[in-house]
Amino acid sequence: MRYVVTGAAGFVGSHLAQALLEEGHDVVGVDCFTDYYDPAEKEENARGLDMRRLDLAEEPLDLGGVDGVFHLAAQAGVRSFGDVFPLYVRRNLIATQRVLEACVQANVRVVLASSSSVYGEAEAYPTPEDTRPRPISPYGITKLGCEQLAYAYRADAVVLRYFTVYGPRQRPDMFFRRVCESLLAGEPFEIYGSGEQSRSFTYVGDAVAATAAAMERAPAGAVYNVGGGDEASMLEAIGLLEQISGRELDVRHVGAAQGDVSRTKADVTRIRAALGWEPRMPLRDGLEAMWSWASARVAAG
Ligand code: UGA
Repeated sequence: MRYVVTGAAGFVGSHLAQALLEEGHDVVGVDCFTDYYDPAEKEENARGLDMRRLDLAEEPLDLGGVDGVFHLAAQAGVRSFGDVFPLYVRRNLIATQRVLEACVQANVRVVLASSSSVYGEAEAYPTPEDTRPRPISPYGITKLGCEQLAYAYRADAVVLRYFTVYGPRQRPDMFFRRVCESLLAGEPFEIYGSGEQSRSFTYVGDAVAATAAAMERAPAGAVYNVGGGDEASMLEAIGLLEQISGRELDVRHVGAAQGDVSRTKADVTRIRAALGWEPRMPLRDGLEAMWSWASARVAAG
């Protein structure tokens, strides 16, 4: 198959593109290398991929000869409010609307990366997909808008709601990445709020497996949670990384962050039944992989 992966220089997109290549597919990566974090890191992620530098919000996406699109390009980050709002509109809503137009015209399936943040403070835990969405961040609101656009366009779309993905190449603004780097540098770590907030952390390899399966065999219009099996609070997760690293983290509590939900807990009954997918990586093993990667990166300078 010939696939397009948007956001292929990002964290999840780069792992997905590499996994598809390893399965023998042709992969064209698309990314516009925004400076949300160091673009040099994205260049590193995309090394070895056939990349097109393209701003999906204004440049055309050529889908000639393409069998499917994985749309992972986005403005990420749930804790951003204020002046950056137009970036969420542009990089999530406008870019996705244009990707959907292109996919519908070319009659090509699209797998859309959505987010657990569409649930906000969820009405039920574990949270099934038909729970009423109540996002509390510009990110979650625009991701929910992307989902709704896919229905409006009647695209052959599959929506995946990823739950806090972690592992090697995690974005530098995310929790585990920052904890690892603080442990390595011996610097204090700022935790937002009590640290009792919890997440269904999802290992990146599990997220990639769900994403490939969705393209291959999900029914059109399906929406699935992609969430890890082990829920942990931030303080519990720090404890695990302290054990793995043999170091102690100097934790400082600062105010809770706007946009942060107190809990996510994925109900994965639907994706298990439809695609036979379930999270396989135990949190501790996934964190060992993350620690090895972060340590090697810092050691390499
Ligand atoms: C993550 C991603 O950043 C989003 O792009 C994604 O859509 C979302 O998961 C999702 O599941 O949909 P988040 O759950 O906030 O968002 O993941 P982290 O950035 O790893 O944060 C986890 C927790 O650690 C949050 O409660 C946050 O407040 C806390 N945290 C993070 C800190 O206490 N200190 C930090 O320096 C960073």
